[in-house]
Amino acid sequence: MIVDVCERFNPHRIAIRALRKELRRSGVFENPLMKTLCMGSILLLFLACIALPSHTFGAQDENRITALRELIEKYDSSGCRECHQDIYDQWQGSHHARSLMGLNGWVFMSKYLKEGVLATPNPAKATKANFPCAKCHLPQLFEASDAVAAELAEAIVRDDKETISQLNIGCLVCHNSKAVIHSHPEKGVLYGSSDLGEHTEDYPAIKKSPFMKSPLFCGQCHGLGPNLEFETPVQCATLYGSYLHAYIPSGGSQSCQDCHMPERNHACPPDFNNREETSARLKAALPMEVRFLNYTFHPKEGELIPMVVVETRITNKAGHRIPDG
Ligand code: HEC
Ligand code: HEC
Ligand code: HEC
Ligand code: HEC
Ligand code: HEC
Repeated sequence: MIVDVCERFNPHRIAIRALRKELRRSGVFENPLMKTLCMGSILLLFLACIALPSHTFGAQDENRITALRELIEKYDSSGCRECHQDIYDQWQGSHHARSLMGLNGWVFMSKYLKEGVLATPNPAKATKANFPCAKCHLPQLFEASDAVAAELAEAIVRDDKETISQLNIGCLVCHNSKAVIHSHPEKGVLYGSSDLGEHTEDYPAIKKSPFMKSPLFCGQCHGLGPNLEFETPVQCATLYGSYLHAYIPSGGSQSCQDCHMPERNHACPPDFNNREETSARLKAALPMEVRFLNYTFHPKEGELIPMVVVETRITNKAGHRIPDG
């Protein structure tokens, strides 16, 4: 019970739950002396949970977003449109601009919230634990409270496309939240390819982040394998693993940005909603060479069997396996 109370104070629930399980399994509770010692330690842990300021555990941040509308507004990209019209239009046509939607606007999380390990019987009670997918599809959700996750779950379950389409991997996710890895991104700073002393009122400074040119920048979301850090581990995109372990060792030298953002075009193709363009791109990416050898087999007098040998060779010109996922 004490541990249960502590869990509520401590976001490191998994660790405490694991400790309790381990203690039970080890059978120490059967020895009265050990039981007293263990309960004493757990009591100390409990007191520490209450006594230490909550930010020690990275819990409630005063600036934590508490409403879905607030999350949408904080990460809204439309303020950048005025001056970066071309980039905005390219981005808006990309999958990054509809990262909670699959093919033709399908709100794919509805399936996962209704059945399977991430399902919730009551969306109003959903928490961030129902959204490991947000790690890559909506990383800003982790700056918000569980109440926001519940609002999001409700919007998903009622198929509220208007709201869902406003939740995306926008300018600020890439140019702030995901733009640096060796420190936390600074508030009010945008990162790009050079230092700019003057920018806008809301974002007065642009800082240089060489990391944004690196394939790992994209690899943060384009995946290496299973995401085991969650209570319910998930696996989705793993393409960065293929880039790193197959393309680079076999002599590949281009980055994701070279191939997918030529001249920093933010459209990031392929766009699977555009079937014609996607199939033309895949044809160019996977050229197929076919060679024939026709001959006639003549096993005995008067018997002629037409034969053909077909040799096909498909070359993958992408920097990773296709398809991914
Ligand atoms: C009032 C106009 C204005 C607004 C609004 C604006 N920018 Fe800019 N931005 C500029 C100008 C001018 C430059 C410098 C020239 C350039 O690189 O396009 C710039 C440069 C940048 C760069 C650096 C480019 C590089 O060299 O790597 C980034 C990144 C950027 N802006 C992102 C944004 C984002 C994201 C927003 C919205 C939050 C935004 N800007 C809003 C005018 C604006
Ligand atoms: C490690 C990051 C990551 C996690 C975690 C993740 N995804 Fe993905 N997902 C991606 C990326 C990147 C893509 C697009 C690129 C690709 O498929 O290679 C994608 C694509 C998809 C697509 C196809 C979208 C389309 O436009 O057709 C669906 C559906 C999807 N994910 C659902 C989920 C669900 C549901 C979860 C949670 C159970 C999840 N993903 C977890 C990174 C992730
Ligand atoms: C998926 C991540 C991603 C998203 C989303 C994104 N950018 Fe970028 N952006 C990049 C990368 C990567 C570069 C190249 C950085 C470099 O070369 O150092 C870049 C470059 C830029 C540049 C410099 C362009 C130039 O020609 O020098 C500007 C300006 C910019 N982005 C603005 C925006 C705006 C505005 C949005 C939202 C509409 C946006 N970006 C969304 C990743 C992103
Ligand atoms: C914050 C996480 C994140 C980052 C950073 C990111 N992506 Fe994505 N990307 C996604 C997700 C999620 C999708 C799929 C969205 C959907 O359709 O549901 C996606 C879709 C794409 C697609 C469209 C094809 C597809 O399978 O949907 C391409 C191409 C792509 N990303 C390339 C890049 C490149 C190149 C970079 C680095 C410059 C990058 N991404 C950075 C998360 C990210
Ligand atoms: C040598 C060029 C090249 C490099 C490097 C490269 N890609 Fe690709 N990528 C392609 C080609 C070609 C396709 C096939 C579709 C197309 O052309 O649009 C593709 C397809 C994709 C897709 C769609 C996958 C699917 O399931 O159909 C995603 C997502 C993607 N790339 C992301 C990335 C990311 C992230 C990186 C860096 C880790 C990267 N790419 C590196 C050329 C490249």
